[in-house]
Amino acid sequence: MNGQVPHAKGLDNSLELMQDGYLFIKKRVDQYQCDLFEARLLGQKVICMSGEEAAKVFYDPERFQRNGALPKRVQKTLFGVNAIQTMDGEAHIHRKLLFMSLMTPPNQKRLAEFAMEQWQASIPKWEGGGKIVLFEEANDVLCRIACHWAGIPLKESEVKERAGDFSAMVDAFGAIGPRHWKGRRARAKAEKWMREVIEEVRSGKLKVKEDSALHAMAFHSDLNGNQLDTQMAAVELINVLRPIVAIATFITFSALALHEHPECKEKIRSGDENYLEMFVEEVRRYYPFAPFLGARVRKDFIWNHCEFKTGMLVLLDIYGTNHDSRIWENPNEFRPERFKEWKSSLFDFIPQGGGDPAEGHRCPGEGITVEIMKATLDFLVNKIQFQVPAQDLSYSLAKMPTLPKSGFIMSHIMRK
Ligand code: HEM
Repeated sequence: MNGQVPHAKGLDNSLELMQDGYLFIKKRVDQYQCDLFEARLLGQKVICMSGEEAAKVFYDPERFQRNGALPKRVQKTLFGVNAIQTMDGEAHIHRKLLFMSLMTPPNQKRLAEFAMEQWQASIPKWEGGGKIVLFEEANDVLCRIACHWAGIPLKESEVKERAGDFSAMVDAFGAIGPRHWKGRRARAKAEKWMREVIEEVRSGKLKVKEDSALHAMAFHSDLNGNQLDTQMAAVELINVLRPIVAIATFITFSALALHEHPECKEKIRSGDENYLEMFVEEVRRYYPFAPFLGARVRKDFIWNHCEFKTGMLVLLDIYGTNHDSRIWENPNEFRPERFKEWKSSLFDFIPQGGGDPAEGHRCPGEGITVEIMKATLDFLVNKIQFQVPAQDLSYSLAKMPTLPKSGFIMSHIMRK
């Protein structure tokens, strides 16, 4: 069985996964010169695969399902239990359309405008010579704009705590021990908050615009015409808010990219919209965020001389596909210009998943992510000047999720 498929060395590879982090799959497919290999993770047999062809197979709903793929520990921190990420078939598509309906280009633009307004409003607090940590500021700004846009009341005195909770859920996904438990507590707190808000909307106590995310989640009906129960509506509302706050990670990496490639600043300064977008795409490709995805084999099939048996867990390498030298020339160079002539196949550039978002599990929030990143870069380059004091900007590929260690400290901030 699977005699031609390379097997990762050792009885169990969980420790190597913790040590190699984002590079766990890439290191091995490079070593074996093969798109896939078998490993054992936490006692179960797993097929790990990487690259564009692997992504096409992974996103075939006839071959894979998401139900049963996500460990409970990830559901109890990052995504919420039984949420959209675990659904399949018609029920998934129905739920997905709800998310897609909220992430329209006008809404992407509105969020980007809110972001610019919030960044501008932060300047007076920063002027006067003190230091700020960009990652922390970004968490607060994004939490304010996410709640404002979604129609959720949020007092200024609550912002830090709520932003911290959303951020803790994300930080927990690859963690064990205290970071994991912090994420669980943060989720329990945020779900309680969201259940209360949804109940207030349903009872008419809280009036909210009909085109808001809060209204949409509170009154969404499933395929059988039943309203989501309060807990499910709360979980899915968090699935809109938390990832907006998570854009703080890409914002922090954007600042690092600007710092490491000052020549890019001039081009952003010239107001070239296309260049700004290319820069953002290269940040999403180059820097690590989502490491890999999991799905279970729906029915037996053979691909690449490998027998995929019903129920097997399969991991698709996101980080490695975005650094695959068959797709990307010199993948370990940061070069926004590579996106100039870029024509995506939907399975080659997958920082937020692959395929068509309306038909599969690909992230519905890419437009929002790109527009908020563009507004923030415009702000950092064109609206303020600042210094970058000595600090530890290194980031570890073993830690998932990772971030520059200092969070990107800025000082001597002044309006331009
Ligand atoms: C799904 C990454 C931002 C909402 C996903 C997936 C990834 C991802 C890797 C899984 C794709 C799959 O399972 O095939 C990211 C990253 C983001 C981001 C790195 C940047 C911070 C957003 C934003 C939103 C969002 C801004 C909404 C406002 C979702 C939802 C799903 C999802 C609801 C589940 C889709 C489904 O299962 O059908 N995202 N995302 N994400 N994302 Fe994002």
